[in-house]
Amino acid sequence: MANEIQQIKDKIDIVGLISQYVPLKKSGRNYKGLCPFHAEKTPSFMVSPELQIFKCFGCSEGGDIFAFLMKREGLEFKEALEELAKRAGVKLSSYSAPSNEDQRRGRLLSALSLSSRFYNYLLTEHPAGRVALKYLSGRGLTPETIKKFLLGFAPNEPDSLTRFLQKKGFSLPEITEAGLAFRSDRNNKFFDRFRGRVMFPLFDSRGQVIGFSGRLIKESGDAPKYLNSPETPVFSKSRFLFGFNLARPFIKKAGRAVLVEGQMDLISNVQAGVENAVATSGTALTADQLKMIKKLAPEVVFCFDADEAGQKALERSVELAEAEGLTSLVSPLPLGVKDPDEAAQKKLAEWQESLAKPLSFYDYYFNLNTANLLKSDALGKKRAADKLLPILSKIIDPLQKAHFVKKLAESLDLEERFVREALDKMVVPSDRAKAEDRLSYRVIEGLKGPKRAETLRRYVLCLLLRFDFSLGKRYIGKLAAKDFAGSETQPIFTRLKEVYNERERSFDPLAVKTGLAEEPARIFEELMLSDLGEFEEDKGLQEKELGAVAAELKKETLKSEVEVLLAEIRRAEKENEKEELKSLQVKLNNLYQKLKD
Ligand code: CTP
Ligand code: MN
Repeated sequence: MANEIQQIKDKIDIVGLISQYVPLKKSGRNYKGLCPFHAEKTPSFMVSPELQIFKCFGCSEGGDIFAFLMKREGLEFKEALEELAKRAGVKLSSYSAPSNEDQRRGRLLSALSLSSRFYNYLLTEHPAGRVALKYLSGRGLTPETIKKFLLGFAPNEPDSLTRFLQKKGFSLPEITEAGLAFRSDRNNKFFDRFRGRVMFPLFDSRGQVIGFSGRLIKESGDAPKYLNSPETPVFSKSRFLFGFNLARPFIKKAGRAVLVEGQMDLISNVQAGVENAVATSGTALTADQLKMIKKLAPEVVFCFDADEAGQKALERSVELAEAEGLTSLVSPLPLGVKDPDEAAQKKLAEWQESLAKPLSFYDYYFNLNTANLLKSDALGKKRAADKLLPILSKIIDPLQKAHFVKKLAESLDLEERFVREALDKMVVPSDRAKAEDRLSYRVIEGLKGPKRAETLRRYVLCLLLRFDFSLGKRYIGKLAAKDFAGSETQPIFTRLKEVYNERERSFDPLAVKTGLAEEPARIFEELMLSDLGEFEEDKGLQEKELGAVAAELKKETLKSEVEVLLAEIRRAEKENEKEELKSLQVKLNNLYQKLKD
């Protein structure tokens, strides 16, 4: 198998593979393009033909040809392997039996599926579930809906599910690992996790039960209204959307997903015919959830609660959606309604109208913040600008941006160029952080403190790895292992120096990587792939940069040697070691002289 993977890697060039999806441009030793995994205007996606890997310095996705295809096409490793084997014309020997890991997951999924049937039986057929059934019909759910979502009831007893599952052959560790029971600290007994709750099974996109959410039937003071499964080997809440398994074809058909917050919001809406709806169910929206939608449709309609928390969540979610390249729309709730559940149950006609023609988020947000703005109200204008400018600065599409710049200028009764200037002045924090991560001497100049030496080490190594061979050969002799002391970059330097000594004209970077431990190898890959901008091609600039950075690093080393000497001198003074003190002073003067040079 390892052999087959290598055969495929030998046949498929990563630059060729990625070029089928993303236009790449040569940049020095690497290729560069716009990252296919997040929305960006300036390329930070790098591909190394020498190492056959890619890395995005914006969103930090990275890896080999298999990783690229998995992420790009949403495939499992096995699927990517099969696809690339086909393209490379490599025959795969058949897969071995499912691994222990797969078997364990299979057991958890069986326990979860069985539990969903246990809960559903109690709700729909057992007298114990009568109160719960009454509660759900009181909330407007029909028997068909209850069946469609396989809703259930967990009785208010200590361990009825646990005992049931044990009878069916599941062990206590399995039941706990599935998130269905826990061991009490007080008496070491096992308890069902869900008790006295209406149960909502959580389905993955293939329709398998991977967890539960349970709602209290009688809300009581301290217990949480909703309780969800913990993270387990089969359930990860950041990659889960409630209702996604049912909504998939409808999202694709409609070209958009309707996003609500709660399970009840979702169920009521699906029952009312809003079938392209999905719910975040109790977590803040994540990039992974948006990626699930993005694979099916280009638009999201946000339908969050009308309260302050809902509006905050909206602003945050739109920023994320923008980064994923999704268009954000908003369908405002009918007046007097607090969430999409109530809208679907009580004001359906109005709600359908709102859903039929969602507003662009920016239009919606604009109107919200500029309505009732008076021409003479300077303070009001400032407030509106303060709120809107940061939002506008995050719009990536230039046409949309131009449109809203114009609109804002009109609302504020200002010339457009003032709005543009104000926008240009706003640096989006994430962009700034990214710029600092990039290696450049101009940035290092401003760096202070212990991080400075480490940044210099990485930068100088980066230049030695990437610049012209003869230049590197000249400069590497000026540096020594002690310039990299105490840093994870030291093995990279040592190895690079060996390679430079062995070779006359050029070297293969893979020869440097061989033998590096995991962390130095990771740093090495980053150094090989980072964007060197104007330095990639210009030899004159390269020499200047390398000279300056090497000198800075030497200075850092000298400074730390001075520190050590000063400490020794203080000690020698205390202990009155006159002879030693004299020789230390001489050493110190030498160091100071070197620093001056
Ligand atoms: N939620 C949660 N844990 C809580 C409260 C809420 O996980 N203690 C999640 C649930 O998924 C819930 C969503 O957050 O559906 C929204 O919460 P909220 O608006 O309080 O509840 P509703 O959806 O209105 O639920 P209900 O109508 O059943 O009261
Ligand atoms: Mn509600």
